[in-house]
Amino acid sequence: MNYKKIVLAGGNGYLGGILAKYYQDLADEVIILSRTAKNAEGNIKTLRWNGLDEGDWSSALEGSDLLINLCGKNVNCRYTKKNREAIIASRIKPTKLLGDSIAKLSSPPRLWINITSATIYRHAEDRPQDEETGEIGYGFSIDVCRQWEQVFMETDTPKTRKIALRLGIVLGRSDSAFPRLLNLVKFGLGGYQGDGQQYVSWIHEQDVAKCTTWLLEHEELAGVINCTAPEAVKNTDLMKMIRQAYGIPFGLPSPAWLLELGAQLIGTETELILKSRWVLPKRLMDSNYPFLFSKAAYAVKDILSIRI
Ligand SMILES: NC(=O)c1ccc[n+]([C@@H]2O[C@H](COP(=O)([O-])OP(=O)(O)OC[C@H]3O[C@@H](n4cnc5c(N)ncnc54)[C@H](OP(=O)(O)O)[C@@H]3O)[C@@H](O)[C@H]2O)c1
Repeated sequence: MNYKKIVLAGGNGYLGGILAKYYQDLADEVIILSRTAKNAEGNIKTLRWNGLDEGDWSSALEGSDLLINLCGKNVNCRYTKKNREAIIASRIKPTKLLGDSIAKLSSPPRLWINITSATIYRHAEDRPQDEETGEIGYGFSIDVCRQWEQVFMETDTPKTRKIALRLGIVLGRSDSAFPRLLNLVKFGLGGYQGDGQQYVSWIHEQDVAKCTTWLLEHEELAGVINCTAPEAVKNTDLMKMIRQAYGIPFGLPSPAWLLELGAQLIGTETELILKSRWVLPKRLMDSNYPFLFSKAAYAVKDILSIRI
């Protein structure tokens, strides 16, 4: 399998790093669009853009196999008015810009994956939410996802297949949720959070990367696709798995009121940990995508074996 060019918009963050490494050996070139210049590393090159205006960078999309858009201000912050506006604008504006740019190309990307979030579904403790029967929830994070997907779906790119990939909580060693949960475990605070009964729909970072190739090769797949492991786990079970794999048998639980206090102190929102995300990747499963990690316990063990 050898691709000509993979473009990662917003690819200098956590997931961009995972994807760039993954595609480094599968493609002649990996082009990252970033607001900050960075030296090339082998065939991984960064082009500067501002995520707002068209420019020379758009020629990088010409003749590419795949565009993955990862742009978005990190949601790990307090949802103040200013942050809310930035969270929305940083997703909508680059998405619209990429759509407008693709429309002008003679040889646009074969596939455009816009990374969105499985948090678009409601808080679910009763049944899993899939692409067909899942119910969209309400609240700020969901409004963000709705607007993000709406702008994406409205772009007119007749020669480019589009997929809104609703990611669950990505588990990996270097960033995102896992290192934070591991830190709690290390300090003896790795018990359940809230009542521990909320579901965590997770996905191993290597499955995020691998499933983008699957989507590229499966031309019948388009539209909304959930990207989570088939089996969500309860928060209490996930914390237990991390404790066991790390070798710390006991961890103090954190009740909701304590989490709220802590979230205010460290500048984040409890919704990120207390919302029950129970999501089923039905379309990936129906297409027989071979998950590298479908059991959380194996994913946790694998992640702990990675040196960073
Ligand atoms: N990690 C997860 O568990 C997870 C789960 C569900 C969904 N997602 C979504 O997946 C995407 C990537 O996640 P990540 O963990 O890789 O996040 P990340 O490390 O924070 O990277 C996001 C990237 O977005 C770019 N960006 C931020 N604000 C921007 C703006 N105003 N205009 C243009 N680019 C902007 C940044 O690129 P530069 O600073 O280089 O320009 C940054 O590298 C995000 O949209 C996130 O919401 C992530």
